[in-house]
Amino acid sequence: MLAINYRGPQRVRVSHKPMPEIKHPEDAIVRVTRSCICGSDLHLYNGNVPDTRVGMTFGHEFIGIVEEIGSEVHKVKVGDHVLVPFNIACGKCHFCRQGLFGNCHESNTQATAVGGIFGYSHTGGGYDGGQAEFVRVPYANVGPTVIPTGMDPDDAVMLTDVVPTGYQAAEMAGIQPGDTVVVFGAGPVGIMAARCCWLFGAGRVIVLDQYEYRLEFVRNYANCEVYNFKEMDDPVVFIKKITDWMGADVVIDAVGAEAAGSALQTITGRKTLLQAGSATALHWAINSVKKGGIVSIVGVYGPTDNLVPIGNVVNKGLTLRANQASVKRLLPRLIEHVQNGILNPKALITHRIPLEEAADAYRMFSSKLDNCIKPVLIPPSARM
Ligand SMILES: NC(=O)c1ccc[n+]([C@@H]2O[C@H](COP(=O)([O-])OP(=O)(O)OC[C@H]3O[C@@H](n4cnc5c(N)ncnc54)[C@H](O)[C@@H]3O)[C@@H](O)[C@H]2O)c1
Ligand SMILES: [Zn+2]
Ligand SMILES: [Zn+2]
Repeated sequence: MLAINYRGPQRVRVSHKPMPEIKHPEDAIVRVTRSCICGSDLHLYNGNVPDTRVGMTFGHEFIGIVEEIGSEVHKVKVGDHVLVPFNIACGKCHFCRQGLFGNCHESNTQATAVGGIFGYSHTGGGYDGGQAEFVRVPYANVGPTVIPTGMDPDDAVMLTDVVPTGYQAAEMAGIQPGDTVVVFGAGPVGIMAARCCWLFGAGRVIVLDQYEYRLEFVRNYANCEVYNFKEMDDPVVFIKKITDWMGADVVIDAVGAEAAGSALQTITGRKTLLQAGSATALHWAINSVKKGGIVSIVGVYGPTDNLVPIGNVVNKGLTLRANQASVKRLLPRLIEHVQNGILNPKALITHRIPLEEAADAYRMFSSKLDNCIKPVLIPPSARM
């Protein structure tokens, strides 16, 4: 089968790999029909995630058709069209029982903080992902969800990560009616987070990024104020200035380890890897939220240390909330929101690209070329 094959930083190739096989009675094999590239894949692509092994297939945002099931799979059957949450979760452990499906204690033997994630290095459990023609889906009675009849596949694939992550960013922010929210990052996740803040009663939503085309998109999509941080001396002072010098009530970090905006952070976090990615957006978030405020972090950072202004967290009495999105917990509500037209995730998909051209797709998404917001890879069998 065709699959993405990681060859080292900034090098992915599409090559032939052996077909995945059922290894456990609760496994399923899914024939992929759509698979997105995510900002999280860029941390892998840029070599910022430890133990990303040559030969790995990335891809944690995919939908497809069940091709084969193990003897103990009863929730889905061969031929079902399913969307598969990016978290791999057992459904039974202490954490899964609390709805913390991103923190499953069983699905990732390589780490204690995060559960398994499709196509996300050996620190994410070592599972191959869905940027391929076929993928093995463990715990198939837990994750895969039959796509409701009539749902557009482009909406369905966005429900595997971007929609729940944006929604959870807003949910964790504890927004009170009328609150001023600042979202750092106008990628797919930040765009969806900004849109979802209104569902929680925000009174004002402000988004910062460096790309005009993304700011333009989010201004229209999420009906929010937008500013380009490249045009500011100091984004923290700017935010204080436009919030009566109080700071925002809540701030969402939808940027993570690839953040731009500080030479020191970029050199130590992205070029020399002396810390686990650049924590620029996190600095700005902590310093621009008002005292007693909440910082909600969905931007991904590496497992090793970051230079973070923890002293200011203490002195300002902040609440930090962060996690991988618990996709399965949020799906029932979000499927309804899509079906009722409250959320329109497929509008974020700007590029449909054959799987065979994945290397070009990565280059384009990574360098933010051609006004790209969200690219989706389509394997040959789904294009017939
Ligand atoms: N927690 C989760 O479950 C989860 C799920 C999906 C993605 N993520 C993470 O969310 C983040 C965003 O993902 P995406 O797909 O939108 O990525 P993306 O790369 O498309 O977007 C990131 C955006 O942040 C902007 N940016 C860079 N530095 C900034 C700064 N200092 N301030 C403000 N904006 C800045 C970039 O210009 C870019 O537009 C990534 O870190 C990704 O790993 C987390
Ligand atoms: Zn993702
Ligand atoms: Zn579990």
